[in-house]
Order: sequence, then C-alpha cells, then structure tokens
Amino acid sequence: MRSKIKKFCFPLAISLLAAAVILLIIYIFGVRTRDQEPPTLRIGVAVYSQEDTFIGYLVQSLERMAREREAGENLRINVSTMDGKSSQLIQNEQVQRFIALNYDVLCVNIVDRTAAAYLIDMAADAEIPILFFNRQPVAEDLQRWESAYYIGAPAEQSGSLQGKIVLDLWENEQERVDKNGDGILQYVILEGEPGHQDTLIRTESCIQVLTNAGVRVEKLASDTANWNRSQAAAKMSQWQEKFGEAIEVVFSNNDDMALGAIDSLQEAGVTTQQYPIIVGVDATAPAQEAVRAGTMSGTVLNDGDGIAKAMLDLSLLLYHDEIPEQKLEIEEGHYIWLDYRQVTKAQLEGE
Ligand code: BGC
Ligand code: CA
Repeated sequence: MRSKIKKFCFPLAISLLAAAVILLIIYIFGVRTRDQEPPTLRIGVAVYSQEDTFIGYLVQSLERMAREREAGENLRINVSTMDGKSSQLIQNEQVQRFIALNYDVLCVNIVDRTAAAYLIDMAADAEIPILFFNRQPVAEDLQRWESAYYIGAPAEQSGSLQGKIVLDLWENEQERVDKNGDGILQYVILEGEPGHQDTLIRTESCIQVLTNAGVRVEKLASDTANWNRSQAAAKMSQWQEKFGEAIEVVFSNNDDMALGAIDSLQEAGVTTQQYPIIVGVDATAPAQEAVRAGTMSGTVLNDGDGIAKAMLDLSLLLYHDEIPEQKLEIEEGHYIWLDYRQVTKAQLEGE
C-alpha cells in the first residue's frame, strides 16, 4: 500500500514542480519583456480635410519623421490621423475620441479658425496639450490655456514674397508683363477658403508690395476657389472668356489653384508664350515643375517639413515633461513660426 502511494505521489510531485518552474519562467520572462517594451507617445492628429494637397504632404512628413525619431530613442511614436471632412462638428467628435482614448498630445488643423475655444477647454480639462497648426486660431482662444500652441508660417510673409516675384518681373521685364503697354498691371486673384488667415492676408499683402513700390495696379476680378485645382480651373475659364489677353498677372493664394489656372489655359489652347504671369504659394512638387518649365513664374515655399518637425519636437518635449521654451523658440508663450522662402526658376536651377 505504502509503495503504491509512493509510486503515485512521486511522479505527481515532480510534475507539479516542473509546472511551477515553467510558470515561474513564463512569469519572469513576461515581466522582463514587458519591462523592455518601450513606452509609446500617442499623437492624435485631426486635419480639416485629407484631400488638401499641402496638408496631405505635411501629415506624411510628420509620420515619416516620427518613424525616424523612434529609431533614435527608446520610444514608440504612434501618429493617428483623422479627417474632419471640412466639418467642425465631425472634428470636435474626433478630438473628443482622442481625449477619451487618453492620447498624449493633440494636433489640430482646425476646420473653423473661430471655433478653437471649445477644443482648448476640452483639452485643458483632460490636461492633454493641444497643438494647432496651419490654420491659426484667434489669439484670445489660444491664451485660454498655457499648453495650447500654434505652429505655422506667417501669412504676411508669403503674400509679400509672392508680390516681390511679380515686382521684380515688372521692374526688369516690364514689356513682358504689361502686355497692353498702358503702364498699369491688370490682375486677377484666385483666393483660398474665405476666412482662412492665408487667404485674407496673402490677398492683401501681395498687392501691397506692388503699390508700395509705386506700381499702378488694376484688379479685373477675384474670387474664392477654396484652395482647389478644379474650382480654380473653372473660375479661370470664366475670366478668360471675359477678359482674355487683358489678364496680365494671376495671383493665386496657393499652388493647386495656380495649376488649375494653367489647366484652363491649356484647355483653351492658349500658347505658353501668351500665358499671363502666374504665381502661387506652397512650392508643391508639381508647382516646382511648372516653375522649372516656365509656365509658373514663381512660388513661395510653405515649410511643411519645418512645421511637422516643430510639431514633433514640441510633442516630445511635452511628453517628457520638459519646459518647451528652454529648447524651442516660442513666441508669446504660444507660437512657433516657420519662415516662407521665395522660389523662382533661377533659384531652383541654382540649387
Ligand atoms: C496652404 C494651402 C492649403 C491651406 C490649408 C495654406 O497654408 O497654402 O495650400 O490648402 O493652407 O489650410
Ligand atoms: Ca497693363
């Protein structure tokens, strides 16, 4: 009887011991791997529209930089992007969702620049820093909370640089620009979305550069094409029909619309020699090609890479509880500015 019990118990004890050892190994291994897993910085990005060329580029640039940065630090960076489809209501819900999921940083390309207070208050309640970019909230809203920031490029500079490209042509090749030779610069303006700071300020400052220099100007027409290439092509077709050769300069608030104007001229069979002077803003790849080809006379670099890098730098500093002012140039406690740069054929060829 005794030996029977022995026969039965011994292997049982061995098996239990083995199981315990295995469980211990699994436990230790599990804890180890969990310890070694890097922490994750989760950035929630809400854009006004994923169809926008410049915004699409900027977000891609942010994602690429996040992957590069991960490799250098013991940190995972998770960038998750939501499309507001040009609706503030949709965007509010998306930001709410990021907050509910306890994201570490919110990056918002706000649909309606006057609607930031609601988002800032939500972010402040949850103590999640909120970084606006490209579409500038009103100043009083940004001041509601110390961890609300705006990262962008100064609109006035882009308009002035665009105006300067045309001023240089007027001063150096006036007979080419002033087609009817009346000493007055006849122009049209393709405008971005109404209410956008870049629409309002670019439209004003590009002309101011010319009038400040004493150039006489005459506006034939201006209208919004909402940053959009095909809307701009349609607008330009109407203007071509109405004014034809009388259009000497097309100022466009961005490159997509400048390319739309070219689409319409091409469609109408206008030869490149007959094109008016066409200038844009952004320096997208197809616009740079047009500048090289001479169909556009110039553009202004909107530094999407610089904006994306500043967003990532600031996100990392905030995540690590560092004081951003010590590492980044932050104006008035809330603003990071990236300079615009003029882009002409000579400059592209000199590169
Ligand atoms: C860019 C436009 C873009 C807009 C979107 C502007 O700064 O120049 O191309 O559509 O931002 O907010
Ligand atoms: Ca003229």
